[in-house]
Amino acid sequence: MKPEILMLRGLLPRQTAQIEERYTAHRLDLAEDREALLAQVAPRITAIVTSGELGCSAELMDRLPRLEMISCFGVGVDGIDLAYCKQRGIPVSNTPDVLTEDVADLAIGLTIATMRRIVAADRFVRAGSWQNGPLPLATRLAGKTAGIIGLGRIGKAIAKRAEAHGLNVVWHGRHDQPDVSWPRRPDLVAMAREVDLLVVACPGGPATRGLVSREVLSALRPSSFLVNISRGSVIDEPALVEALVAGKIAGAGLDVFADEPNVPAPLLDLPNVVLTPHIGSATEETRDAMAQLVVDNLDAHYAGRPLLTPWRFD
Ligand code: 8YV
Repeated sequence: MKPEILMLRGLLPRQTAQIEERYTAHRLDLAEDREALLAQVAPRITAIVTSGELGCSAELMDRLPRLEMISCFGVGVDGIDLAYCKQRGIPVSNTPDVLTEDVADLAIGLTIATMRRIVAADRFVRAGSWQNGPLPLATRLAGKTAGIIGLGRIGKAIAKRAEAHGLNVVWHGRHDQPDVSWPRRPDLVAMAREVDLLVVACPGGPATRGLVSREVLSALRPSSFLVNISRGSVIDEPALVEALVAGKIAGAGLDVFADEPNVPAPLLDLPNVVLTPHIGSATEETRDAMAQLVVDNLDAHYAGRPLLTPWRFD
């Protein structure tokens, strides 16, 4: 008898095929009648495959009496009710490391695109506006200060790239990191006052919800930029939209939003904002490695081996 798995989404074709070969996979995302599928299979499900965005609610897990583990396609596990998992002793795996470089690349890509107005410049050329004169001048990166919120694996990869572009790096995080040479700024509002670019790279979830508050946003200068590749929940999104619309900050590069795939309508009209649809890890190579980790963690669990990349509960 193959173990029965509930998939809240598919993976890449290669890894979906591996799962279908080794397990009995039930696709909740493809079910015409999700309730009917759950009613039929819930008692037999021993693992869930989900993603950072989809997460997994306590309500769903409550319906799965034999649930043994959750394999998450994504490094962020904030959508999963971790308190519930901890209490029920359900291990969770995620996909760290393999996506670090790509997410950091996107952070820098958004920074350059926003500060150098690359997307606006592209629109300018396509619209034929070049015939009428040059594009207004943009902002230099080199010599400016970037403040990174969250100096984990991704934050460090961003910091290295930022340095390579001549930016001075400071960072904000809960804990000091003695091995890190970039100066830490324990007071986020004070850091916001200091920086030309604020990059959000911390995990999502209750601990960071609204961390980039109205007060933090107000501390940024009218010449400062903001980039977010983390989670929309970390920023007070209505306050950010207000600040951008009122010109209280110079621009933003945003890959993540509070209510994806919905993007606040006022942002769509702002030329100084670059918007991407949560593509930090979206390369063939990285998504393949992430999907393989999802499968490898499931395989490890069912073989009685330690998970390759377990989420460490507090
Ligand atoms: C998504 C992400 O999980 O890793 C994360 O936390 O946000 C992304 O990599 C990815 O889009 C899969 O849904």
